[in-house]
Amino acid sequence: MTKQILDPWGSINVKDYNLAMKQFGISDLGNLHKNLPLKHHYFSRGIIFGHKDFNKITESIKNKKPFVMITGLMPSGILHIGHKIVVDTIIHLQKLGAECYITVADIEAYLTRNISREQARKTAIDQYLTNYIALGLKKKKTKFYFQSKGSTEYNNLSKYVAKKTTFNELKSIYGDLTPQKITSAFTQVADILHPQLKENGGPKPVVVPVGLDQLPHINLARDIASRFKELKLIQPSALFNKLLPGLKGGKMSSSDPISHIALTDPPKTVENKIRKYAFSGGKETLKEHREKGGNPDIDISYQWLTYFEESDEKLKKIHDDYKSGKLLTSELKQILIDKLNKFLKNHQKNREKAKKQVSKFLN
Ligand code: TRP
Repeated sequence: MTKQILDPWGSINVKDYNLAMKQFGISDLGNLHKNLPLKHHYFSRGIIFGHKDFNKITESIKNKKPFVMITGLMPSGILHIGHKIVVDTIIHLQKLGAECYITVADIEAYLTRNISREQARKTAIDQYLTNYIALGLKKKKTKFYFQSKGSTEYNNLSKYVAKKTTFNELKSIYGDLTPQKITSAFTQVADILHPQLKENGGPKPVVVPVGLDQLPHINLARDIASRFKELKLIQPSALFNKLLPGLKGGKMSSSDPISHIALTDPPKTVENKIRKYAFSGGKETLKEHREKGGNPDIDISYQWLTYFEESDEKLKKIHDDYKSGKLLTSELKQILIDKLNKFLKNHQKNREKAKKQVSKFLN
């Protein structure tokens, strides 16, 4: 088998997560999450499908020892319902006791996507931070920072990491390289490792919740951590979540409004998009659907409900009724529309309140 390379700056569309786990050396979550003091259906339903060293984090939680969650956001556009998965995971880890580091990747955005720092700042605040707060992120034990405004030690680290890798290693992790990509990768490694610097309280377990596309950065950060003997770093852990599929099937993308629901979409838009575009696993005719039933495995409305319907019982009933033909596609779509619009109505109210809190997170 030829070596597979993931491109964290390209676009990936994973079809088979089991295969991806084997190819990329990601461990199955197994029972790891089962003894956590707080449950989440992303864990129990395999939406968070894999990890590296998450046992270090569950141990810390069990022993009430400090641990860190760090993640970053690329301030490239509007926030959609697919982004909510990582945000919910961040907030869940915060509830489990994590100290949270959240970085705005404005340096990476400038280098790899030509987004100015001013634009990045505006997007990060209006779209990301405001929505994060509305979804439940708390100020206590949260450090929100811009890559361009990190501390001196963080900046130094982003350069010192160069000494702990080789050009051949970078080429084998990333494939095609440019100076911009190398600088972005080093900056991200510094993001992931700096919570363990002396100024931040020294070595401790750190978990990075990300999509699979970010795996190369995780691997580089872990390799460098183990070679930085003088800093005594603990190799960072990672959690990987499945991406929410786009409305029409395929990839969900910020730049394609009919592939997603934005967190700012009004109820009528949500209804229209789902009615018109959500890929259906239903049969051609009513008669055939009643007789043979629908296919929840390919039905996007059902797939989305596995992310957004918290009750296992309700979800199972929807699944079984759809499969048996009792539930029609139009009815299934209505369930999703109601679910999302209820969430969005509440969320949009919370967003207004969140706007007043934004300044507390910025310094
Ligand atoms: N590269 C990430 C993205 O494209 C953003 C990012 C920057 C990040 N620093 C990070 C993610 C540290 C996780 C941890 O979305």
